[in-house]
Amino acid sequence: MGKSWTPDSWQNLTAAQQPGWEKSEEYSKVISEIMNYPPLVFAGEVRALKQQLADAARGDGFLIQGGDCAETFDDFRADSIRDKLKILLQMSVILTYGASCNVVKLGRIAGQFAKPRSSDTETRDGLELPSYRGDAVNDIKFIEKNREPNPKRLLRTYNQSAATLNLLRAFTTGGFADLNKAHVWNQEFIAQSPQGQRYEKIAKSIDDALTFMKAVGITSDNTAALKLTEFFTSHEALLMGYEHALTRQDSLTEKWYDCSAHFLWIGDRTRQPDGAHVEFLSGVDNPIGIKVGPTIIEDELIALCEKLNPENEWGKLTLITRMGADAIRSKLPPIIKSIKENDQNVLWVCDPMHANTYKTENGFKTRHFNTILEELEHFFAIHRAEGTIPGGVHFELTGDNVTECLGGAREISDEDLNSRYETACDPRLNNEQSLELAFLVTDLLRIGR
Ligand code: PEP
Ligand code: CO
Repeated sequence: MGKSWTPDSWQNLTAAQQPGWEKSEEYSKVISEIMNYPPLVFAGEVRALKQQLADAARGDGFLIQGGDCAETFDDFRADSIRDKLKILLQMSVILTYGASCNVVKLGRIAGQFAKPRSSDTETRDGLELPSYRGDAVNDIKFIEKNREPNPKRLLRTYNQSAATLNLLRAFTTGGFADLNKAHVWNQEFIAQSPQGQRYEKIAKSIDDALTFMKAVGITSDNTAALKLTEFFTSHEALLMGYEHALTRQDSLTEKWYDCSAHFLWIGDRTRQPDGAHVEFLSGVDNPIGIKVGPTIIEDELIALCEKLNPENEWGKLTLITRMGADAIRSKLPPIIKSIKENDQNVLWVCDPMHANTYKTENGFKTRHFNTILEELEHFFAIHRAEGTIPGGVHFELTGDNVTECLGGAREISDEDLNSRYETACDPRLNNEQSLELAFLVTDLLRIGR
């Protein structure tokens, strides 16, 4: 944090990717209202996550960050929240069991409602309208009045995030995330599939281990670690007014926290070192992620690290690289070298989704399972060669049986995309593809340990 940082010092700088509603009266009213709302997360939880990320950065633990590209107001049901939690729990069990390491579970959930766009407008059949910027800003329907940014949507964003978090807390602390429930997380539609059966074997071994432990007196009643209660939330810190409005000072430490989520990341399009997003996040004590795409310049990345993590604290900074399956081979090594030369303490995470997106002939935005896997394989191999630690993965995924990404064990094809393509933004791995990737990441992790 620079000496001159205040929660509103970002207001003197340019903020990219804003909806253009900042001058409206309605917007000011909404922001003042949110300023008075209770925080969604608490400083103590944020510090606990930071400690776990610090451990992962030094090789003791591994991060799984995942969830929707964009949450929506329509998809707001207990079942769907539960299923998103289930798939992350299953993936973390696969990794913990297979690679014997603690998994930090971080959802793209309870706040992931705003999207950066490559173009301000979208044109269809000669009609040009504002681009969809996520449900926090406007409606996806291609109708003029729906596409108009509406600040009132921020109130719904807050309320839906609060209710989602409430349910996640109830599930995790109320026993649903207990390791004894590992079987229950396997959804019916997947239980018969090869991935589901492979998962079931692990769940069975865990049961055997738990039965043995119970015999010697270790149960989830007396051993909190078996309850897997630690689940954290994250989203892209994109809408400056909203993030600012949820910033609170911790009475214990006097540090500032962005209480909209435990972990915030800066997108590849808003990471300008002298921009508003970087200024704002440089002053809060939350762990911060930076999306590092192929256009990054080494000096710029070092400037970002120094500004966002001046104390060079472990766990504070996560670099989420998203280079593309091909480009990663030439782009990642010089970045790692420059981070090493400058002694920056970071957690290295791979997002194998965002630089591997393309449009099919039928107009579906998709990603191929094999390409995603390829970027992951290079990520692990490059870090091993450089002597740095591949510390986590970042996926867009869902607990549902959608058909948005190609490939995987079921070999989802171009023709299949049509059957359940439901995402509001980027294509997500479905339940089975997510489990399959968890098994493959486990293998990659095990090779180097
Ligand atoms: C995202 O994570 O949804 C996203 C937009 O990523 P990026 O900033 O890396 O393009
Ligand atoms: Co996305």
